[in-house]
Order: sequence, then structure tokens, then C-alpha cells
Amino acid sequence: MIVLKTKEEISFMREAGKILAACHREIAGRIKPGVTTAEIDRFVEEFLEAHGAKPEQKGYMGYPYATCASVNDVICHGFPSKTPLQEGDIVTIDMVVNLNGWLADSAWSYAVGSISEEAQRLLDVTKKSLFLGIEQAIVGNRLGDISHAIQTYAESNGFSVVRDFTGHGIGREMHEDPFVPHFGPPGKGSRLKDGMVITIEPMLNTGKFHTKVDADGWTARTRDRSLSAQYEHTIAITEDGPFILTEL
Ligand code: MF3
Ligand code: CO
Repeated sequence: MIVLKTKEEISFMREAGKILAACHREIAGRIKPGVTTAEIDRFVEEFLEAHGAKPEQKGYMGYPYATCASVNDVICHGFPSKTPLQEGDIVTIDMVVNLNGWLADSAWSYAVGSISEEAQRLLDVTKKSLFLGIEQAIVGNRLGDISHAIQTYAESNGFSVVRDFTGHGIGREMHEDPFVPHFGPPGKGSRLKDGMVITIEPMLNTGKFHTKVDADGWTARTRDRSLSAQYEHTIAITEDGPFILTEL
């Protein structure tokens, strides 16, 4: 069941989203060679607490940290670690912010120092695919229109789209209906309505789309060990067009 949100509820989610966006801006200034993702995770906990918000991921289905930190071939759900980031790495930091019971979800990939041309192209294409998806998040379109825009752009640039993880509805719960795949035919799936709030969070790989999960039960990698990147925003679908709740 898709729970539609009122304008007031969307404004509460927007406040959570602003804190999340400000947190990502701080992270962007902190990611560099030698820094650990455990340090970033601790920074996020402190930042959210200072803003009266909570890290929704911590304790969710037993997940142990405030953030997911996914380096290089890790697609998503990587654990923050004490291994220093190295020049040339790419790392995705993903988090869900809870402000007074309302949630916002956003992931961003970062370059660590200077990175290869291919890694930079992966970041650029993944980010652009998110915004092409967002452009399709308009009343009257269908979910498949978002999915198709992302897949078409990703594949025409030689990258694959992960199938095993999708975007989702969000509100008081982290994962609500509908699922939002980042691949598939246009014109299919639920009709987009005023008041729907969803995440769009494409994960693109330089190699094939297949995934495998580590023995820790969380860390999802590319099966072929190719690089993976992700950008995610929380979007409200409104009569005035897509409203990105997780940007500044
Ligand atoms: N924020 C992610 C999502 O898009 C991942 C949540 S998994 C968790 O749903 F367990 F870490 F919370
Ligand atoms: Co999400």
C-alpha cells in the first residue's frame, strides 16, 4: 500500500532532508586519503545529534552503524571501517536521517584524492542518471518511466545497473511501497501521484550488474569486482513537479 503524504508531512521530511544534505556537505570536505570511514561514521552521529536528529539505519534490521560506507567494488551496505581511504578510491556514504519520526534518505559517492578517468566517468554518469530519473518523477507518469530513463542513460554509457537493490517509498518507515527499480520498460508500474515520496538511488557498475554479499551478511559487492557508484535523493512527487527533499 502506497502511503500518500500531506504537504505538512512533506515539509517535515524536508527538514530531515536539509539536515542530511548539510551533513553530506560536511562529509565532502572530510573525505581524503588517510581518513577512515569509521571516523566519518562517528562524525555523522555527532552531527545528527547536534541537529536534534537520529541515524535511522543504526539498529535497523540489526545494522550496526549510522552510515553505510561502500568502497570501490562495494555496491552498498558496506560497514564503516578503520582502514584508511586511499588516493584513487571511490566511496559511497549512505544514511537515513530521522527528525521527529520523519525520515529522509540520501547517498553520495565521493572521490578520494585524484581518481582514474574511468572512475570519474562512473561517478558523473551515475549522478546524471539519478537526475534523469528525477525528471521523470512527475504526476501522471509511471514508475517505469523513472526506471527506463536511468537504465537507458547508464547502458548507453557502457555501465550496468544493479538489479538486486532498488529505491523505495519512505515516510515514517525507511522502506515503504512502492519499490523503485532502476531498470525496466517505460509506461509500466504504479502511476505517480501527488503526495508520493520515494527514493531514487541508482547503483551503476563498470562491469556486470551481478552482486554478491559478504559473510558479514550486509556488504554487497559486484560479483566481478568491478567499481560501483551510487547517488540517492528522496523525492516528493507534487503538482509543481519533483521536489528534492535531500538537497540544500
Ligand atoms: N539507506 C539505504 C536504503 O536506501 C540502506 C538502508 S540499509 C540499512 O534503503 F540497514 F543500513 F539501514
Ligand atoms: Co534508500
